[in-house]
Amino acid sequence: MDSYTSKVAVITGASRGIGYNVAKALVERGSYVVIGDLLEKEGEAAVKEFNDRAGRQVAIYLHTDVTKYKDSIALFALAEKTFGGVDIAILNAGIAGRYSGGLFTPLDDREDMHIHEVNVGGVVKGNKVALLHMAKSGKGANNVKIHDSNIAAYCATKHAIVGWTKSLVGLQGVANIRANADVDNQFQQQYFETVPKTSMEYVVQSFLRCIEDTDLIGEVLLALPDGVQVQDKYILPECCFTPEFMEQAPIFTEAGEQLAKEKLAKAIKAANI
Ligand SMILES: NC(=O)c1ccc[n+]([C@@H]2O[C@H](COP(=O)([O-])OP(=O)(O)OC[C@H]3O[C@@H](n4cnc5c(N)ncnc54)[C@H](O)[C@@H]3O)[C@@H](O)[C@H]2O)c1
Repeated sequence: MDSYTSKVAVITGASRGIGYNVAKALVERGSYVVIGDLLEKEGEAAVKEFNDRAGRQVAIYLHTDVTKYKDSIALFALAEKTFGGVDIAILNAGIAGRYSGGLFTPLDDREDMHIHEVNVGGVVKGNKVALLHMAKSGKGANNVKIHDSNIAAYCATKHAIVGWTKSLVGLQGVANIRANADVDNQFQQQYFETVPKTSMEYVVQSFLRCIEDTDLIGEVLLALPDGVQVQDKYILPECCFTPEFMEQAPIFTEAGEQLAKEKLAKAIKAANI
């Protein structure tokens, strides 16, 4: 069985832009897509386009605010109800624009945290709900975008997701779920015109590689102007890995993995999924 045929992918922020293009690529490869986004008109139009082209239902849209657990829960439940499960979760929804700077804006609690709620909270919450569904079967792709330009708050949110994704490396042993992040340096604003940009083709390729390449676990993929690269791992110096630590650290021990499996089973039961 290939990585796409009859697989069910939940994609947030796929009413337009990168998410839409990834959804399109997945449908073209034989997957079902479940789109969760705030933009209803665009989301419904994308779904109609995919379904019309396929001549059957291959896509569905649900109005979703990724900052709300109840919306993510409903989105993944819809995937299960409509297409019978969840194999792939692409937590792509994100914002930039006026929320990106953070440094010289008014000292406003709500305004400052909004980008964190969407870009970090949306991925963390989506990941947790996805995990409960995918733990029953399947494997995962997790997505993040990041910039190196002067947009501090935005960069903070995307770096947070890299840290989050790397911390999920143990899920492979616990629930056969792989989490990876995708990073690109594309940006639309005029004053970033000189920044070398990647193409939508490479961005979509990086998502597809997260899904296809089963060797990728807790990795960060870079969608660069000249193609897709797996980011070099930052390896901590040897002094951080004493034999005593390696024996005890839960992520390295069978007992730790077993404990995580028990916690996961409890979480699935508690969430009634
Ligand atoms: N386009 C770029 O240059 C670029 C570069 C780097 C990273 N990214 C990241 O890639 C992802 C997609 O970007 P894009 O360029 O396609 O942007 P986009 O604005 O075209 O699409 C983002 C989608 O997310 C949705 N969304 C926003 N907040 C949401 C919420 N709370 N709940 C549900 N959906 C929500 C929007 O409605 C929109 O459809 C984002 O995470 C973005 O930060 C984009």
